[in-house]
Amino acid sequence: MAGLQTFVLYLPLILHLRWTVRVAAGAPATVTIGGIFSNRNTVEEDALRFAAKFINTRRDILPNTTLTVVTNYTEVFQTFQCMQSACFLAELGAAVIIGPRSSTAVKTVNNVCSGLHIPHIAPVATDPLLGNQRMYPYLLRMSSPDTEQSRALIALVKHFGWTRMCILTSLNDYGMNGVVEFQSVAASYNWDVVSVQQFQVNSDPSKIDVRLQLQKIKGTGVRVIILNCLAIHGMRVLEQAEKMGLTWRGWAWIVTDGFTGMAEVTAKKPIPHYLQGLVGTRPAPGRGGLLTKTE
Ligand SMILES: *[C@@H]1O[C@H](CO)[C@@H](O)[C@H](O)[C@H]1NC(C)=O
Ligand SMILES: *[C@@H]1O[C@H](CO)[C@@H](O)[C@H](O)[C@H]1NC(C)=O
Repeated sequence: MAGLQTFVLYLPLILHLRWTVRVAAGAPATVTIGGIFSNRNTVEEDALRFAAKFINTRRDILPNTTLTVVTNYTEVFQTFQCMQSACFLAELGAAVIIGPRSSTAVKTVNNVCSGLHIPHIAPVATDPLLGNQRMYPYLLRMSSPDTEQSRALIALVKHFGWTRMCILTSLNDYGMNGVVEFQSVAASYNWDVVSVQQFQVNSDPSKIDVRLQLQKIKGTGVRVIILNCLAIHGMRVLEQAEKMGLTWRGWAWIVTDGFTGMAEVTAKKPIPHYLQGLVGTRPAPGRGGLLTKTE
């Protein structure tokens, strides 16, 4: 997602924070905003800093308060590290914690945030279960849940008149919970989800081995595959699928926002064969007036 688009996403949130701060505490001199990112120098971090700076330079928004941003970095698949990051930011006095990206990591960080009563904002996590306010009472999500995406997938499959398909997902919250709604609607249409396969992911995508699952899919004779995982993993899956002859003419691969929204996908030049002809869903970020001003 482009940095400025992310910025526009962050802005309403910080404006909301301004209101909360004013009402609750009568404008303190500084408010610390914590950000958890998977890497240094990401567009997400730039966007957060830019948003804070924007607020700080304006006289009409939070005039007597300065926002400071503190950050920490964590490997999103390292649960313990995610918790440590959240504790680290809480110790630095973060009034709110933003991030990280993935649904699983957001759940982990939220354990700390909800426990410490710190508002927690998930900019892009889409696991529908995150909407459960009883489980995640201090969580605010900025993207629509994957149940919405499932509806778009259903419309896509319907458009092409496909009635038999396989599902392949990463073995994590994003991968598995993201297609639950699709499966239930598919069942109500009497579509035949012939095989549902999962593959293990960890921090090293090069270790992903999905050949067994692909073999099973190939064995079903079904050639429509819905792949729900992040691009870093999905690229590896498709690479292996290509080698096994599952990406050539006659095969349809449908990917989701975790794939289409990632910069890696378009970074490879020339575009590898296995990425050609993919169809998928991609969220449309809001385009407020500020976007054109800052672009
Ligand atoms: C900011 O501080 C000034 C001077 O202390 C005060 O008059 C004003 O009401 C404050 N504004 C807000 C929004 O708290
Ligand atoms: C991030 O947090 C860890 C503790 O979880 C801490 O040791 C480390 O210094 C922090 N890194 C930065 C860049 O603040």
